Amino acid sequence: MAETVVEVKNLVKRYKELIALDNFNMNIEKGEVFGLLGPNGSGKTTTINCILSLLNYDNGEIKLFGEKMKSGRFDLKRRIGVVMQNVAVFDELTVYENIDYFCGLYITDKNERKQCVEEAIKFVGLEDFRKFKPKKLSGGLLRRLNIACGIAHKPELIIMDEPTVAVDPQSRNKILEGITELNKNGATIIYTSHYMEEVEQICTHILIMDKGKNVAEGSSDDLKRSIKNTENVIVDIKNLHKDHIENIKKLSHVYDVQYMAGRLTIKCAGGRHNISHVIDYFAENDIKYDRIYSELPTLNDVFLEITGKSLRDKEA
Ligand SMILES: Nc1ncnc2c1ncn2[C@@H]1O[C@H](COP(=O)(O)OP(=O)(O)OP(=O)(O)O)[C@@H](O)[C@H]1O
Ligand SMILES: [Mg+2]
Repeated sequence: MAETVVEVKNLVKRYKELIALDNFNMNIEKGEVFGLLGPNGSGKTTTINCILSLLNYDNGEIKLFGEKMKSGRFDLKRRIGVVMQNVAVFDELTVYENIDYFCGLYITDKNERKQCVEEAIKFVGLEDFRKFKPKKLSGGLLRRLNIACGIAHKPELIIMDEPTVAVDPQSRNKILEGITELNKNGATIIYTSHYMEEVEQICTHILIMDKGKNVAEGSSDDLKRSIKNTENVIVDIKNLHKDHIENIKKLSHVYDVQYMAGRLTIKCAGGRHNISHVIDYFAENDIKYDRIYSELPTLNDVFLEITGKSLRDKEA
């Protein structure tokens, strides 16, 4: 039987008039890499802070490892590792000392701790930076230090809130490989990100939240199957008259057409010959184009259809 590691039931959190979490529900099974996705301000960090009892909430229930979580439950807290959205390390301590400090909150035996710290350093690839202070590290290396501080005590549940924001590709890959490895070694992971490629790559289960509510969940394939959008036909084409755009909108199975910066995106729901219909239309009207191709919906299309917002809003 699957073991439930995190159980969040009807969680309500208000900041004065603002309802940040609105009867939010979430269950996470042991062994999952659980992707928590949502536009800016949808309540991801608030959820995490409530799970950790760093924040009081107005209503609802949170159980971790089958037990009710409260701020005094240090026994439950030591089974969790957290990598916060904002890097939280001590500027005056070196890489080694920082990891040792955070690990020391949970592991008091000196020898055991030394081994854990060394393993964490190796795990994130900071071997050459042991004696560096955080200010001397690049953004990517600093993120890796933040991760090492969160995981050195070998937690069973690891919560990572956007660990790859503003990180160079090399560090990003290192972090993603690391998450997969931690999971292989038995850890359950909660992962929030705005990068859908990452989420598709590593998450076994995805929950989309919007305005404090759970609006959809499942595997990436489940989510893609659940939406209206089944295919996007994309055409690189210059100076397309708006009358043609209106006509293309009327082709069968087409439900939305956008034309921006020389790129026509035709959204289709069902149908097997969408691309041929578009090619036929261009041929009949003697219209030239550069390139035409068809794409299956991505996680971003799922996100867009469900929340009306792009996953990439943050970078826009
Ligand atoms: N301390 C606070 N006081 C008042 N409002 C807050 C506070 N913290 C968060 N909020 C509000 O609660 C809502 C949820 O915020 P939260 O930080 O949980 O979102 P998020 O999904 O983590 O967003 P992001 O993707 O930007 O990190 C937002 O509307 C935010 O403005
Ligand atoms: Mg956040």
